[in-house]
Amino acid sequence: MNPSSRFPLPLLAAMACMLGSPTRAAEPDEWKLPSETVELRAGKGREWVAGQCVLCHSADYVTTQPPLARAAWTATVEKMRAKYGAPVPTNAVPSLVDYLVTAYGKPDPAK
Ligand code: HEC
Repeated sequence: MNPSSRFPLPLLAAMACMLGSPTRAAEPDEWKLPSETVELRAGKGREWVAGQCVLCHSADYVTTQPPLARAAWTATVEKMRAKYGAPVPTNAVPSLVDYLVTAYGKPDPAK
């Protein structure tokens, strides 16, 4: 009989790992993420940005931008969604951009 039909493959793999490091399995690794030190400025919609825009990188990416106009912040948020897969719902985009323009932007150039 083929051994893999009696033992599912993941079980065999786990057993092989345990054989490889019998002592280390007893002591779990201790590790911590560094704490987030960047504070986003207060403002309406801040909690959206704090929730959605720090999933992949720190809030530094927002706070260290030069003051951007609405079109540039909109393009940034759209890039995060389209290119990098940020899970921002479409209907949340306007409030995110409102916050970003108010807290880290500049007024649109006069038309
Ligand atoms: C799915 C992951 C992900 C999420 C969520 C995300 N970003 Fe990004 N962001 C990236 C990646 C990847 C880069 C490029 C990193 C690099 O070049 O080092 C980036 C870069 C940036 C930059 C630097 C300038 C640029 O255009 O590359 C800014 C500003 C930025 N993100 C803002 C935001 C904002 C605002 C949000 C919330 C709407 C957000 N990010 C959410 C992945 C993400």
